[in-house]
Amino acid sequence: MKVAIVYRSIRGNTKIIAEAISKIMGADLFDLSKVKRISLDGYELIGFGSGIYYGKHHRDLLKFVDMLPHLEKEAFIFSTSAFRRIPLLDFDRVLKKRLERKGFGVIASFSCRGYTNYLFFSLFGGIWKDRPNHADISKAEEFARNVLRIASYHQAGVSK
Ligand SMILES: Cc1cc2nc3c(=O)[nH]c(=O)nc-3n(C[C@H](O)[C@H](O)[C@H](O)COP(=O)(O)O)c2cc1C
Repeated sequence: MKVAIVYRSIRGNTKIIAEAISKIMGADLFDLSKVKRISLDGYELIGFGSGIYYGKHHRDLLKFVDMLPHLEKEAFIFSTSAFRRIPLLDFDRVLKKRLERKGFGVIASFSCRGYTNYLFFSLFGGIWKDRPNHADISKAEEFARNVLRIASYHQAGVSK
């Protein structure tokens, strides 16, 4: 299955997760800070990830999605953040909505903690030092295997 992963990572936290997932999936990895024009033609599954900024994915990633044409493809999303995702603090909501507006079916989402000195955390020298860590990477790899399984199953159904 041809997989593309598009990500934006300011201090490198989400980059660690993007690389771990792409290794398992054999995906082409696109760093939005380096590549501005990305064609998603020919990809069957696309991953979108970034750190969480002010309650949502990074604005560059959201802007990128807004610029995409209508694409009926499967997608997964991922992020690193200071806070845990909870129903009242669902930072996936904005990206998911925008992807769905573009025709994507979002089949899975992954999130883990990432180091930050955001807001009052700077008073303590930051929190979540060394995150994402080995355990986070293992979970991201497991996530990647599961997503690949689900997407392959869907693809097999489509081509029947
Ligand atoms: C300006 C700023 C705003 C942030 N806003 C949030 C937020 O709203 N919720 C949250 O959980 N984490 C927030 N964080 C923490 C980042 O999401 C976290 O450090 C993340 O791992 C950064 O990922 P990156 O290095 O891949 O960009 C913020 C960090 C900064 C510097």
